[in-house]
Amino acid sequence: MENITLNVEKVLGFVDKEKLAAYAPKVKECMETLEKGTGLGNDFLGWLHLPSSITKEHLADLKATAEVLRENCEVVVVAGIGGSYLGARAVIEAMSDSFQWLREKKAGQPTIIFAGHNIGEDYLAELTDFLKDKKFGVINISKSGTTTETAIAFRLLKKQCEDQRGKDMARKVIVAVTDAKKGAARVTADKEGYKSFIIPDNVGGRFSVLTPVGLLPIAVAGVDIEQLVAGACEMEKVCANEELTENPAALYAATRNELYKEGKKIEILVNFQPKLHYFMEWWKQLYGESEGKDGKGIYPSSVDFSTDLHSMGQWIQQGERTIFETVVSVEKPNHELHVPSDEENLDGLNFLAGKRVDEVNKMAELGTQLAHVDGGVPNLRISVPALNEYYLGQLIYFFEKACGISGYLLGVNPFNQPGVEAYKKNMFALLNKPGYEKESEAIQARLK
Ligand code: PA5
Repeated sequence: MENITLNVEKVLGFVDKEKLAAYAPKVKECMETLEKGTGLGNDFLGWLHLPSSITKEHLADLKATAEVLRENCEVVVVAGIGGSYLGARAVIEAMSDSFQWLREKKAGQPTIIFAGHNIGEDYLAELTDFLKDKKFGVINISKSGTTTETAIAFRLLKKQCEDQRGKDMARKVIVAVTDAKKGAARVTADKEGYKSFIIPDNVGGRFSVLTPVGLLPIAVAGVDIEQLVAGACEMEKVCANEELTENPAALYAATRNELYKEGKKIEILVNFQPKLHYFMEWWKQLYGESEGKDGKGIYPSSVDFSTDLHSMGQWIQQGERTIFETVVSVEKPNHELHVPSDEENLDGLNFLAGKRVDEVNKMAELGTQLAHVDGGVPNLRISVPALNEYYLGQLIYFFEKACGISGYLLGVNPFNQPGVEAYKKNMFALLNKPGYEKESEAIQARLK
C-alpha cells in the first residue's frame, strides 16, 4: 500500500538546500527528546505512540457504544470545543457525502450535529428547536469537564433529552468523554450512570483525535475507525525514521522552520477538495496552539481552492511576500464524473468535453502552484493517494509528529496553551463567577 508523501522541491528556490540539510542533526535531537520525554511539556506525550497502543478491545468498546447511539438516535449531538471538537469534525466531514443531511434518512445512520463550540444564542436556540421532535442523543466531550461553551450546550441538551426521551433512555443515549477523575463532566457522568470514556491525562486536547474524543463520534458517523488507526500506525512507523529525507514529518518540520527564519511568517494550508475544509481547521488549532507563544510561531491559515482563488487568490499571488503554502493534494477522487459534450457549445466549454472533472481540478492545482511559485510563494505538497480513513489516519499522525518536532525546533513548549486562559479569566470576571471577585473589581475599574 502507498503512503502519503511530502514534496519540498518547490521550496528549494527560496531556501538554501545546504541549510535545509543542516537540520538533520537538530531534527534527530528533537526526535530523541520526544522519545526520551526529556523536553518541555513532557507530561503530554501520550499521543506519540498512541496509534500502536490502541487495542482491539478498546476499538470494539467504542464501536459497541457507537452502535447503541446509532440504533437509538436519529440525531447525535457532539458537544465539545477546540481539541474536543475539531478532530472528529475533520474526519467526519472528510468521509461524509457532501449532501448527507439533505438525503433521505436511513435507520441506524444518525445525523451528526456539533454544538458546544460557540456561545451563539441563536445557534443554540435553533438547535434546540430543531431537536424538538427528534430522537436525539449526546456525546459530551470535555477533558477539563468545565469548559463554558460545552457546559452550557450540555446543560441545555441534557435537560431536553431527559424531557423528551425520559430519564432511562437519556441515560442510554448520553455518553461522556472526559477525565478519569476530575471535572463536572465526570461528576455528572458518574452520578447519572452514563457510559463514559477516559481521555488519557498525557494527551492534550489538540492531540486527542485518536482517543475516544475523536474515535467515538467518528464511529457513530459510520466511519471506519479501525482503518483510521491502521493509517496512523503506519505513519507512526514511517515518522520514526531518523533520516531527515526519509521521514516526512521531520522534513516538513525542518522546511517550515527554515522558511520561518527566512521571513515566511504565515503558512497557508491549501486543499483542492472541499471535504477537507475542517481538516484544515483541525490543523490550524494543532499548529496555532502548539507554536504561537513566547512571541514566536508561524501563523497557520488555510484556504479551500479553487473556491478561495476567487477571494484570497489575489493576496496570495501579489500581497506581502511573507507566506508559504502547503498543499494537501488528494490523488484520486472517490467518484468519477465527466464534463458532458454540448452540441451548441454556447458556453464554449467543449474543449473540456469528456474530461474528468478531477482532471480540470488537477490542472487548476498545477497552474496555481506554478503561478504562486512564480509570484514568490514557496510551495510544499503533501500527496494523499485517496480520501479514505486510512490516509486520514496517516495525515493526522504525520501532522502531530511534525508539530512536536517543529515546536522543539522553534524552541517553545508545543504541548501547553497558557495564552488561552486570558480571555476566560476576563469573561469569568465580567460574569461575576465565584472565585473571580478580585479580577471582577480590577476589570470593572478598567472599564470605567
Ligand atoms: O487543545 C486544547 O487543549 C484545547 O483546545 C481544548 O481541547 C479545548 O479548550 C477544550 O477543552 P476541554 O476538553 O477541557 O473542554
